[in-house]
Amino acid sequence: MNHSLSIPALTEDLSRVLIDADTIDRRVNELARKISADYADTDGTLLLVGVLKGSFIFIADLARKLSVNHVVDFIALSSYKGDQSGNVRLLMDTRENMENRHVLIIEDILDSGNTLDYLIRNFRTRNPASVKTAVLLDKPDRHCVPITIDYLGFTIPDVWVVGYGLDYNEKYRTLPYIAEMFPQA
Ligand code: IMP
Ligand code: MG
Repeated sequence: MNHSLSIPALTEDLSRVLIDADTIDRRVNELARKISADYADTDGTLLLVGVLKGSFIFIADLARKLSVNHVVDFIALSSYKGDQSGNVRLLMDTRENMENRHVLIIEDILDSGNTLDYLIRNFRTRNPASVKTAVLLDKPDRHCVPITIDYLGFTIPDVWVVGYGLDYNEKYRTLPYIAEMFPQA
């Protein structure tokens, strides 16, 4: 596939393309292959839970590449970034029952770790067969709580990134690549 004619150009907010669309696609393929192999022999249908809004493109691409049966669900959270308290609030819960099911949380990026820490603890109280995590991007320099990522796309430096689902004030979510922003004043 030749994307070259349709790639949106960087705007003045964006300093460089950190991960291009083809590199993302190849990595998502690798993750899908690994996940499909790991869940091939498990009982029941795999439950993917995408964390809105940032994971919507990652989960769409990943899910379509899986060769194991799966169901897609979503959850929405808000976190208070400003006060560093790590408070996470549930805005919209999943619809699927997790009891005795294998759950794979699909997240766009691991920053402080508060969101995934909250989700893993919360889901474990619902008696699933297992809870694992697939995360597209990890910023290890920013972690405040230890989190195990079972399937990781890419490790990135401590910069603000947008595109492929990730936003800055709701902008840039649908860029096909991941771009680094200039530091905001
Ligand atoms: P955490 O709870 O601090 O790990 O925050 C994770 C959430 O913060 C992610 O799901 C994103 O929504 C958001 N986030 C963190 N870093 C970035 C970034 O560089 N770009 C866009 N969103 C980000
Ligand atoms: Mg998110």
